[in-house]
Amino acid sequence: MFTMPKVIIASFAYIVGVFVLCAGLETSPTCSSIEGPTPGEFIIQRGIVPDNDSATTVSFRGCRISDIQPRAFHGLPSLQYIDLSRNSIKNLKLGILNDVTRLTHLNLSYNFISDLEESLFNQSSRLEVLDLRWNKIEVMKVGVFSPLKRLKYLDLSDNEIVGARLSPAMFDSCKALSTIDFSRNDMSGAPTDLLRAVEVLDTLKLDGCFLKQVPEFATRSNTGTMKKLLLSSNQVSTVKLTTFISLTNLEELDLSSNVISELYEDVFKPLKNLKIIILRSNRLEKIPDKLFYNMLRLRKVDLSFNSLMLIPVNAFRFTTIEMLNISHNKFTYLVDNFCLELRNSGVKLKKFYFNSNPWQCPCLRDLLKEMKTYRISYNNAKYDGKNAVCISGDIINTCLRQPDVNEHFNDLYYSD
Ligand SMILES: *[C@@H]1O[C@H](CO)[C@@H](O)[C@H](O)[C@H]1NC(C)=O
Ligand SMILES: *[C@@H]1O[C@H](CO)[C@@H](O)[C@H](O)[C@H]1NC(C)=O
Ligand SMILES: *[C@@H]1O[C@H](CO)[C@@H](O)[C@H](O)[C@H]1NC(C)=O
Ligand SMILES: *[C@@H]1O[C@H](CO)[C@@H](O)[C@H](O)[C@H]1NC(C)=O
Repeated sequence: MFTMPKVIIASFAYIVGVFVLCAGLETSPTCSSIEGPTPGEFIIQRGIVPDNDSATTVSFRGCRISDIQPRAFHGLPSLQYIDLSRNSIKNLKLGILNDVTRLTHLNLSYNFISDLEESLFNQSSRLEVLDLRWNKIEVMKVGVFSPLKRLKYLDLSDNEIVGARLSPAMFDSCKALSTIDFSRNDMSGAPTDLLRAVEVLDTLKLDGCFLKQVPEFATRSNTGTMKKLLLSSNQVSTVKLTTFISLTNLEELDLSSNVISELYEDVFKPLKNLKIIILRSNRLEKIPDKLFYNMLRLRKVDLSFNSLMLIPVNAFRFTTIEMLNISHNKFTYLVDNFCLELRNSGVKLKKFYFNSNPWQCPCLRDLLKEMKTYRISYNNAKYDGKNAVCISGDIINTCLRQPDVNEHFNDLYYSD
């Protein structure tokens, strides 16, 4: 059962302590360093912060606050920044923000808030940054964010939101949203038009959201301004050919820790501005011949922790990749003169990670020679003589570049 939190602001000395150290104005020192006289719960009420017409900032970070009284911020008309993070606030009473109409930043992260009342932000039309990370939010009423026409940054990560229960109208007024973090909520059933009103989206984080596919709400034409899309730690197995067709401004795509086993050759082609692609920890066995071909901005490709045995040089021709990571795969060899071939089409690798593969020793030797010739850095800590880095075959000095030998060397490498 819910019990009313007790007001245990026990002594006058402690109230002074809260004011001086906790509710510091402007520079906001935190109160996490002070010890209250009694362990317990603390409530912000009117007067804790003395009235002040010019104070703009108040911080109650880590102050063991359990509740905020309705008029707590009355008398502080200039407040723009309120930090209430790292407390034990369970619910937010209606009206607590009504006195601070100039508020631009509100940090409520690391509390126990489970519910956001519909008119909580009615007077907060200037709010730009709202951090609700690490709470227990399950329910969000459709109109709760409606007054937030200037909201740019919304962090809802690490809550208990069920996407299937969100209304597509939820963010209709939030046209200014530029960063949204839904990570570690269940967004699998979210409406396909959840973000239909955003106009200037820059970053969307969907890490660990139980997604089985790249969600449509993330890839519609109005999200085409996006630069960064994080989809790591989901259960995405296939990516439709048309998925990224609208994301022509995307610079960074993180698909790591999914279960993708195959990719369409042209699936990334609409991403004309892509610089970084992370496909680490998937189930890729093959890279289509021209997967990244002619992607002129591409600089970093991470293919580590997959099941790749072959990698076509063509896949990287006419890109600008500088970093390639193929560590922890099943390579036993690369095509002859892999780096020279790349250089011939203008690709100058600077970093190449290829450790933890069942290399045939002669093939690894060829590769290391290229690293030296072209001054490419690699993970040389692994080649200190202490680790098993390659397998010497029967024919000691020749690299066997035939797909049918791969299995043999993989068996040897992974048998012990
Ligand atoms: C009000 O806040 C300002 C800082 O914003 C501070 O300099 C001033 O001393 C405060 N006034 C009172 C009466 O506490
Ligand atoms: C909110 O507070 C937390 C922890 O106190 C901090 O890590 C986070 O960066 C703050 N959020 C913003 C948007 O400043
Ligand atoms: C808050 O705004 C909503 C609509 O945006 C309105 O229905 C509601 O009555 C308002 N509540 C208060 C307390 O002003
Ligand atoms: C693989 O690539 C990532 C970049 O995504 C890099 O940070 C990491 O160090 C690389 N891993 C190894 C084992 O070299």
